[in-house]
Amino acid sequence: MRTSLLRPVQGVLVAATVTTLAGSPARAQVDEPRLGTDRITQDQIESGALSLDEIRAAGLKIFSTPFNKLDGYGDGPTNPNDPTSPGGRPTLQNNGTLLRVNGLDGQTCLECHSIISNASVPAKFGIGGVGGATSNAIFQPLSIDVSDVGGNGFAAFDGRFINPPFLFGSGGVELLGKEMTADLQALKAEAQANPGTDIALVTKGVDFGTIRYQNGAFDTSGVEGVDHDLIVRPFGRKGEFTTTRAFDIEAMQFHFGMQPTEAVGENVDGDSDGVINELLTGELSALVVFNTNLERPRRSGGPGVGAGRIRFRAIGCTDCHRPALITDERVLTYSFPENPLDATENVFYQSDLSQSAAGFRKAPNGGLIVPLFADLKRHDMGPDLAETFGSELDSEFTTARLWGVADTAPYLHDGRALTLNDAIMMHGGEAQAARDAYAALNDNQKKQVIAFLKSLRTPTAPATDLVAEAQLP
Ligand code: HEC
Ligand code: HEC
Repeated sequence: MRTSLLRPVQGVLVAATVTTLAGSPARAQVDEPRLGTDRITQDQIESGALSLDEIRAAGLKIFSTPFNKLDGYGDGPTNPNDPTSPGGRPTLQNNGTLLRVNGLDGQTCLECHSIISNASVPAKFGIGGVGGATSNAIFQPLSIDVSDVGGNGFAAFDGRFINPPFLFGSGGVELLGKEMTADLQALKAEAQANPGTDIALVTKGVDFGTIRYQNGAFDTSGVEGVDHDLIVRPFGRKGEFTTTRAFDIEAMQFHFGMQPTEAVGENVDGDSDGVINELLTGELSALVVFNTNLERPRRSGGPGVGAGRIRFRAIGCTDCHRPALITDERVLTYSFPENPLDATENVFYQSDLSQSAAGFRKAPNGGLIVPLFADLKRHDMGPDLAETFGSELDSEFTTARLWGVADTAPYLHDGRALTLNDAIMMHGGEAQAARDAYAALNDNQKKQVIAFLKSLRTPTAPATDLVAEAQLP
């Protein structure tokens, strides 16, 4: 019934937008696309004519522009054959604007990635931070039992409910992911060269199980915590995205119905909203250069921090929350198009993450120290934390990176833990033993662990240099 109500209304809308594109003077004089006409192109970036800061500033603009329908915000007519994907979703106001559940849930990236510290009251806002519970993304629920018809005491639902993490330090994370993938692919080749032998899949000290090549095929039954293609995917709490570019392409479509040309093709109106070329390749490139050169989290001192750090290790937290992983290289490369199996293909730009705003410390091996407190591996966290999406990964999550954790409440994938103590106590599954060891500490010892976690801080003023530089209105 909803479908039949929606379609004629949206039909009118699309027609109006198409008229505008064709240059209808009446509408064009009133509304303008917020991205304007001076749009950054891939050629400009590849030519070397722009400085890193100019590209970052252009990326900040994409990140913070409240897109409107002339930019391509929203979806076209509902597609009864695929009503949950971007392009085919119904909307709340029957005019293609907001849905809120299953995307079309904001106008800018910034509005969900905007809190740099929740440790103070009032919270401190800034560019690239986390989101509070109101910013949770609610991915593809088909039913939410808000009145508890099921009688199980909670509002059961079948989608995903996800709290926004911050983007600080993501360049170092992306570089680690690419290098770990390269290592795992080399180990896979080694397995193929040695049929019948189990090859240990260890990269940067993280153990992803084993692989074996036998009878002309790979046996991946021993692979752990990474997809069987052995591509490390650090981004998204499920570990589903290789790079920020891969993530951002989906984010643009899911949250805003803004379709990058690299997803739908040039001059193609993939979501039938009357707008083509909603985001250019150069705009996506600027966005990822901005994302990956954001400042990294920092550390602070204080009473109990040193003792807490020792205890954090002693009770097994560092099995997953590795204090630091070391890269081989200092330079993050950017590719278009990306080949997740080989990051050296199609490189069009690069940035030294020890020199840029990212500011990673150099390691003696010529690489960088990425103090992320994670292993870029997925772990089964037990039935209590499991999602109800119906995926085989329901109870698996990529280890939360604890850098900055002092400032980023609420915690865990959906924000259910309002304090650090709660977050730890809700660990189960593979983390049950560490959780129990924590639970067995006396109150003073627990406070030491918490004091240590509270020394892991977000950057103080991320990307503020760009606001002045770009003179964004
Ligand atoms: C409605 C809120 C919301 C909006 C708007 C939003 N995000 Fe997010 N963002 C999230 C959530 C929730 C996650 C976690 C998603 C997951 O785990 O799958 C996330 C995760 C990310 C990540 C991965 C971070 C990591 O460490 O895993 C990146 C990168 C990102 N967002 C970039 C963007 C960009 C770029 C935009 C604008 C195109 C954007 N986000 C808009 C909520 C939002
Ligand atoms: C088996 C691996 C594993 C071990 C061991 C482990 N964790 Fe975690 N930790 C995770 C995963 C995975 C998450 C993310 C869970 C989620 O998103 O719901 C997480 C999340 C957290 C969070 C919340 C961070 C955030 O931003 O939401 C904190 C705090 C934390 N862990 C602290 C600890 C402490 C302290 C210990 C030791 C007692 C510990 N963890 C042991 C895997 C582990």
